[in-house]
Amino acid sequence: MNFELTEEQLAVRDAAREFAQTELLPGVIERDEKQQFPAEQVKKMGELGFMGMMVDPKYGGGGMDTVSYVLAMEEISKIDASASVCMSVNNSLVCWGLEKFGTEEQKQKYLKPLAMGEKIGAFCLSEPEAGSDATSQKTTAEDKGDHYLLNGTKNWITNGNSASIYLVVAQTDREKGHKGINCLIVEKDMEGFVVGKKEDKLGIRGSDTHSLMFTDVKVPKENRIGEDGFGFKFAMSTLNGGRIGIASQALGIASGAYELALAYSKERKAFGKPISQHQAIQFKLADMATEIDAARLLCLQAAYLKDQKKDFAKASAMAKLYASKTAMDVTVEAVQVHGGYGYVKEYHVERLMRDAKITQIYEGTSEIQKIVISRELLK
Ligand code: CAA
Ligand code: FAD
Repeated sequence: MNFELTEEQLAVRDAAREFAQTELLPGVIERDEKQQFPAEQVKKMGELGFMGMMVDPKYGGGGMDTVSYVLAMEEISKIDASASVCMSVNNSLVCWGLEKFGTEEQKQKYLKPLAMGEKIGAFCLSEPEAGSDATSQKTTAEDKGDHYLLNGTKNWITNGNSASIYLVVAQTDREKGHKGINCLIVEKDMEGFVVGKKEDKLGIRGSDTHSLMFTDVKVPKENRIGEDGFGFKFAMSTLNGGRIGIASQALGIASGAYELALAYSKERKAFGKPISQHQAIQFKLADMATEIDAARLLCLQAAYLKDQKKDFAKASAMAKLYASKTAMDVTVEAVQVHGGYGYVKEYHVERLMRDAKITQIYEGTSEIQKIVISRELLK
């Protein structure tokens, strides 16, 4: 077993680290406060190849492996989890899904601009009354011969307003259960499509989360991904990869908070010595570092299995389950290490603590990850 990263992988990690420090760190507190989408920064991420990292270069992507993607996601999430969720959705839900299951025409028309970072994508599965229980969705895609008529509401959509290409999952034939569901590529300017209200959130406040309304939107048949009835399987297969992205986001939030806590503990003095000299603080740092290493190994294992074209559904669910818990544990302790200073915005750890929580909720809650893992174990 080889735990060494290649020179290329290390170069990607260093480039992401540099970008996060120079481009994302300035203004991150203000963007969080004002709930401002990091539009300029995401544009630069596109120019640097971070928005379509794993896509074949012939479709405008970086042709990199999933391990490199995990490394970049960790570095970017250390500083700005709102930018990294945009990156994760675009890379692993939208681009990956289109590249794996799209037609050549769909790849030319939609994948290319997404992979090159010229456009942003969104993945639209959840609804007001259908989150974990994703097959119970009410949005319909009625088959009208040469097109589908799309009606319904999607909720909580990341990149909801900043996107211009949306993968929308909808029911065509309710009788057929999950085999009656399709996934359609919807463009923002299609008639009858309205972007609804922006959510005012606890964390990842720079990420634009919106509801979306569809009223008699005519979507051409050629915009369906895969065969008729493939939409739910498409969503589930895509989420297997997406969960590696969110696991890496959680890992980055945790390691960002840990690095801040470590540095602070060496500077802050109490009872005549740096707080890092008190065993209670040392044990916190030891626990944080151990959990982070375990989370990183799970993320890299899932990425490795995906790169080897092996089954990675269980590994990605495990990585997300564990890394998201690590993000919560570590950020809470990082605030504790900072004492009162940890509770104010200037020191960054309170934001990381707020950002951490979402990683236990989206792309399948922790309870859903346990369902995925246990089903695989009991197969
Ligand atoms: N990989 C591939 N296929 C899968 C799968 C997986 N992980 N999980 C289920 N499937 C397939 C099954 O094999 C089955 O197909 P067949 O009948 O052909 O075998 C089909 O999907 C239906 O499966 P189930 O009967 O198991 O479906 P279920 O209704 O019991 O639900 C579930 C299973 C795992 C709970 C699923 O509904 C689920 O994952 N829910 C969570 C939804 C979710 O993650 N939403 C995230 C939205 S996107 C997002 O959140 C983005 C963001 O924030 C940034
Ligand atoms: P529910 O499904 O109602 O769950 C409520 C609670 O019940 C949870 O604790 C859950 O774990 C538990 N529960 C439910 N069923 C079971 C069960 N069978 N066994 C045990 N426990 C169970 N969705 C998208 O499609 N695209 C996006 O881009 C997107 N971005 C998001 C961004 C943000 C900021 C947020 C908050 C959500 C986003 N989501 C997105 C939606 C997200 O995926 C859902 O919120 C999530 O899947 C949970 O669904 P729910 O909110 O309806 O909760």
